[in-house]
Amino acid sequence: MKDIGLKIVLDEATIQQRLDVLAAEIDALYKDKPLVVVCVLKGAFMFFTDLVRRLTCNPMIDFVQVGSYGYDTRSQHVTFIKDMTLPVQGKDVLLIEDIIDTGRSMEFLLPQLASRGANSLRLAVFVDKNERREVNIQADFVAFSIPKGFIVGYGLDYGQAYRNLPAVYEVLFDEKAHCALES
Ligand code: IMP
Ligand code: MG
Repeated sequence: MKDIGLKIVLDEATIQQRLDVLAAEIDALYKDKPLVVVCVLKGAFMFFTDLVRRLTCNPMIDFVQVGSYGYDTRSQHVTFIKDMTLPVQGKDVLLIEDIIDTGRSMEFLLPQLASRGANSLRLAVFVDKNERREVNIQADFVAFSIPKGFIVGYGLDYGQAYRNLPAVYEVLFDEKAHCALES
């Protein structure tokens, strides 16, 4: 992997404060409803855990993983790596995703889950990134909107690395950069 630089975009405190607000909105919406929150692996794992630990509406928890194959992420090339295990009939479903980029992953996943008889299906996304959007996907809850750039940290990866960072950084693709973590 070539050397990269990392420039801070969202610090830890900013993320955590925003999650307090978001969790309160979600709690209010699903109060007294049978909610299943579904984490889209791997990227949403940190957003998911920080969010669900704030919820008081006592949701059920499940996980999915999708992946694309071939040279692009067009919807016909997106498939399940791991499906969820809980039935959702008669329940409310909130899908938790790391980032909407082209929208192709959600273009695949949302109709799949919508066909399973849930009372409702909504999408919460950590980052909404519009720069490369190819299909019209609207999230119901957006933690942050970032116009462009490739970001890592807080679950998001570059070559499977950097997911563990508690803040979000833009990757500076510079052969001479030496992974400087500036803050
Ligand atoms: P999609 O293009 O909306 O289908 O997004 C596909 C996936 O690409 C996301 O779920 C992320 O895992 C990944 N992705 C898109 N943009 C970024 C980024 O800026 N950093 C890290 N991963 C990204
Ligand atoms: Mg992902």
